[in-house]
Amino acid sequence: MKIYQNLTLALFLSFSLGCAKKEQTAINPPLVPSPTTTGSLKDMPFPFGAAVNVSLLRNNVQYKELVIKEFSSITAENAMKFNALHPSETTYSYTDADEIVALAQANGKRVHGHTLNWYKSLPTWVTNFQGDTQAWENLLKMHIQTVVGHFKGKVASWDVVNEAFEDDGTYRNSIWVQKLGADYIARAFQYANQADPDALLFYNDYGHEYNAIKRTAILNLVNNLKSRGIPIHGVGMQMHTRYNQTDANITSAITSVAATGLKVHISELDVVLNPDNVATLSYTTSLADLQAAKYKSIVKTYYSIPKAQQFGITTWNVTDADSWIPTTYSRPDWPLPFDRNYVRKAAYQGILDGVK
Ligand code: G3I
Repeated sequence: MKIYQNLTLALFLSFSLGCAKKEQTAINPPLVPSPTTTGSLKDMPFPFGAAVNVSLLRNNVQYKELVIKEFSSITAENAMKFNALHPSETTYSYTDADEIVALAQANGKRVHGHTLNWYKSLPTWVTNFQGDTQAWENLLKMHIQTVVGHFKGKVASWDVVNEAFEDDGTYRNSIWVQKLGADYIARAFQYANQADPDALLFYNDYGHEYNAIKRTAILNLVNNLKSRGIPIHGVGMQMHTRYNQTDANITSAITSVAATGLKVHISELDVVLNPDNVATLSYTTSLADLQAAKYKSIVKTYYSIPKAQQFGITTWNVTDADSWIPTTYSRPDWPLPFDRNYVRKAAYQGILDGVK
């Protein structure tokens, strides 16, 4: 009988506590919902990627697992640049890039190649190269076709030419323009297309959202290439932006690039919180929320362009710990959707909210 009474009491208590617990959850939801720990950016309705660092993939298991878990597309942050792949005239060096491609293939991820032609990250053998116009043309063609050929069938798309414009909308006076004239850009696309006719080819640059003059110059170039039948398939908008950039500017940038009819890649997204380089700034909830709102509005606008043009969004780096921003500008900053401990930030939730 005593046992029976105790059992009844225990059942009663556990039932009451269970109700109280349920009631508490229903009445007092957390005031600031923390980003979910389930799901993944791989579930976004378009490819979502990041620029990855090969040393971190190799040496940091937590970083590698985060990349595998979250992203459906991968760009090499540095491993496919000219100096990395082609350090001397007669040497190509594919170890790092091949490792990234192998990781992507093993985990069903798309690889976007960055970048076949840029004015930066050139090896000294190129900057010191002596030769006539034909020799420079051969150098350009040989590099593009050897690299694209090596990755044929493994790299889905390339930034063929990166950052060819100055802020005033004129062509940057790069070594390529000096040696070959600005129309080398068209030939770079043709060379890439000859080496892999299935690869999607992009012109990639920054500033579309804050510099209408430069944006017009970029759009004139890509429309000109298109009208001449040059094989260009997309425009990369780097979108290294800031929490206080206006939504209106971001929207006109994305919609005017989409008006070309080409695929649009937001190719290097980050949203800085410390654009004025304040050495003492700290990361607060209000900054985190402003950043989340900016990520959300970028994603939302991007999601509104025609589906066939949504090539994807790629963040430049993975977490605040590996972002290029703090080191480059020697300042504290927190530009990415994951914090220094690899935990999802409010910005992560902002990305998810952008496609709701
Ligand atoms: O690899 C060497 C290493 O051997 C050496 O010890 C070290 C000492 O400084 O330098 C290392 O190279 C650095 C490389 O990153 C790898 O860490 C270069 O100095 C440095 O200039 C390079 O910076 C990269 C930069 O592009 C230039 O290539 C950044 O990581 C990378 O985030 C940045 O990415 C660019 C995009 O390609 C184009 N759009 C803008 C974006 C941000 O600048």
